[in-house]
Amino acid sequence: MKTTISVIKADVGSIAGHGLAHPALLAKCEEILAKAKEEELLIDYYVTNCGDDTELIMTHRQGEENEEVHKLAWNAFIEATAVAKQLKLYGAGQDLLSDTFSGNIKGMGPGVAEMEFKERPSDPVVVFCCDKTEPGAFNMPLFKMFADPFTTAGLVIDPSLHGGFEFEIFDVMEHKKVTMTCPDEMYDLLALLGTISRYVIKRIRRRSDNEIAASISTERLNLLAGKYVGKDDPVAIVRSQSGFPAAGEVVEPFAFPHLVGGWMRGSHNGPLMPVGQKNAYPVRFDGPPRVIALGFQIADGELVGPADMFDDPSYDRSRALASDIAEYMRRHGPFEPHRLPADEMEYTTLPGVMEKLSERFEDIK
Ligand code: 13P
Ligand code: 13P
Ligand code: MG
Ligand code: MG
Repeated sequence: MKTTISVIKADVGSIAGHGLAHPALLAKCEEILAKAKEEELLIDYYVTNCGDDTELIMTHRQGEENEEVHKLAWNAFIEATAVAKQLKLYGAGQDLLSDTFSGNIKGMGPGVAEMEFKERPSDPVVVFCCDKTEPGAFNMPLFKMFADPFTTAGLVIDPSLHGGFEFEIFDVMEHKKVTMTCPDEMYDLLALLGTISRYVIKRIRRRSDNEIAASISTERLNLLAGKYVGKDDPVAIVRSQSGFPAAGEVVEPFAFPHLVGGWMRGSHNGPLMPVGQKNAYPVRFDGPPRVIALGFQIADGELVGPADMFDDPSYDRSRALASDIAEYMRRHGPFEPHRLPADEMEYTTLPGVMEKLSERFEDIK
């Protein structure tokens, strides 16, 4: 019997501005998922938030892309939006791009990461949730977890990891995908993964047996909406131990707060700060971008946990470094590379300014 983990997320409203999902929204989602558990559609669930994004972590036996499970998540977000509207929360229903559900939540605004697997005798899983960034923010940390021996010692000292991993990569601009293997195609792989706004890791599998190792939400909300409606703050599910990177190897890459897009108005680069749940609230200049890591053991579909993995003093230096980098980047004000390059801002409000100026441009003789 297989277990499916579905993490479906959306920003349906927050206080104050794009800050923090209101507890009443999480409570409404809890109420709806509790009912689904009672009715045995779900085995278990955990509702959380990273900043203004509400995350539904669900386990069930229905497989990936299941209509009932997706509809459940959609309904939870619709009902939470009604609460958000009553409270006049900021961005009520921000990520819901449609009024009606049409069979699959993909393409409707919410982000989705799912994986189905046969449980091992012990199956540790880490769920990452980000705010103020985009799916490509996971490219570097996932590459390090599954391909960098200086991060994951197991790639060197555990024979069960020696076969390497295979990366499924989406081109989110052209809607194409490609699968590449590591370590043999590492340099070609990195040529793609470095372009974080376009090429994003969707799935990682172990090559020796094709077992699923990681699954990432890759929705590009700003592209779907055709105009800027908020950044596509991503989530990821990663399995660990016994033939996968150890739990500590899975969280190790986040000790380096790398630069990602999505800070302030979805238009600025900033460091990705790893935080415990209590600090998953981006404040300064609506940031800097945040990531939380929730560790679970999956027991016959039950979610045992979570362990709040970045609520750990050994990440204090990473947070201090992130604050220093944030300060350095902020000093650039409206200049690149703090502000995103113009082509990345195609869907934001900058083109409006350019349009206003266009008639004033004349040829240089
Ligand atoms: P244990 O021996 O405590 O199970 O740990 C193994 C391991 O992978 C630690 O990184
Ligand atoms: P979110 O994508 O998290 O809603 O943030 C949008 C924004 O404009 C932050 O400044
Ligand atoms: Mg928001
Ligand atoms: Mg957000």
